[in-house]
Amino acid sequence: MAIERSAAKRPNWSSGFAFIMATLGCAVGLGNIWRFPYVMGRNGGAVFLLMYILLTVFICSIPLLCELLLGKQMRRGVIRSYEKINQKFSIFGWLCFITSIFIPCFYFVVGGWTINYIFIYLFNQMPTDQAAYFAEFAARPCLPLLFGIAFLILCAAFPFRGVNKGIEKANNIIMPIFIVMLILLAAVGLFLPNSIEGLKFMFAPDFSKFNFTTILTALGQALFTLSVGMGCLVTYGSYLKKDNDIIKSSGLLILGNTIIAVLAGIMIFPAVFSFNLEPSAGAGLVFITLPKVFSAIPFGNVFGLMFFILLFFAALTSGISLLEVSIAAILEKFKISRKMATVIMSSIILVFMIPAALSFGPLSGYKIFNMTFFDAMDFTASNILLPLNTIILCFVVGWVLKPKMELLTNNEKFYNVFNFLLKFIVPPVLILLMLFGLGIV
Ligand code: PHE
Repeated sequence: MAIERSAAKRPNWSSGFAFIMATLGCAVGLGNIWRFPYVMGRNGGAVFLLMYILLTVFICSIPLLCELLLGKQMRRGVIRSYEKINQKFSIFGWLCFITSIFIPCFYFVVGGWTINYIFIYLFNQMPTDQAAYFAEFAARPCLPLLFGIAFLILCAAFPFRGVNKGIEKANNIIMPIFIVMLILLAAVGLFLPNSIEGLKFMFAPDFSKFNFTTILTALGQALFTLSVGMGCLVTYGSYLKKDNDIIKSSGLLILGNTIIAVLAGIMIFPAVFSFNLEPSAGAGLVFITLPKVFSAIPFGNVFGLMFFILLFFAALTSGISLLEVSIAAILEKFKISRKMATVIMSSIILVFMIPAALSFGPLSGYKIFNMTFFDAMDFTASNILLPLNTIILCFVVGWVLKPKMELLTNNEKFYNVFNFLLKFIVPPVLILLMLFGLGIV
């Protein structure tokens, strides 16, 4: 494997399709299937969905475009991209790098849970008390950690093989299978009795549920699910060919990601309502509530198995992109081989993953600011680092880099709107999100 030191040797996506599948794989993850439905369930259903779509289009699309633009223009990973603008901005790249270590620590633990559930359904071992099973499994000292490590190794195997042979191939194969499976399971959800209640919950807005928290939660969810704020899209954008139209790509990405989140809702809510279960069940929605549904429907085991394979695929393609951020960053920063960079980053993540995996059992009593290690990593990354990095990105691109119109579009009106949103609207909105995330407003 050649050492990818210079931009000249930098790998390129072999087609526009490969790029879309890779970015979709990066965006579509546990955030869409595990987090989106329960956050929506807790925040009033349809009102939340509406806010989520509006905020995605008018706010989150801007930093998303900025990330792709930065990567495409600099053709470097996140640390070197910032350094190319100004050596002093190196710290901003390192902040993204740190975020890309924090997120996998808890994300890969949940990825490991999905592997466990695949085995449980494969061997028909789901006990009748699903809630007790989940609590007992997550609290075990070894099993969740072992599955987390297995998940980490699986994610690392693809960047290890390279951008084209590993990352691109994985996404080209997994994403289409994922989409077909999702459509199939969503259709099953629709055929359950009383499914209409679930659809009403998703699509008929009840504005009495609308409040400030709904807006900010929807914004946070949109940023997380689009993978904005830690340089994933800078990294993937840096493998773009010069002629790629990033506006079109961003549009497709946003559309695809939103449709998939909505389909995930259609797969989950009709089933939840059909069995009179609680839509706002929180993080356990997918691991406790859905197994209850599977145990009650014909061929439930088959659908359960399919669902957890689907969840695993979603987590895997995002996990690959999470790892690629730090791998690409240190590979060019320290001029080491891709294989070496993969081993180093996986080992670092492994160390931090251990306390996260044990947070539900042996280490559940150890608290950082009253949170377990798992929750503290999630909180710091999602509520502080992601918004902070996004705010910095908007300032740097909007006020320092000031991208020329030709780089983006030939439509002057669009360019002016983009610039206005980037400079004056998005940063204050994001600052608000961050203060909210910290409990200050
Ligand atoms: N977007 C991913 C998801 O929805 C999570 C993620 C966040 C991935 C940030 C990369 C960077 O699950």
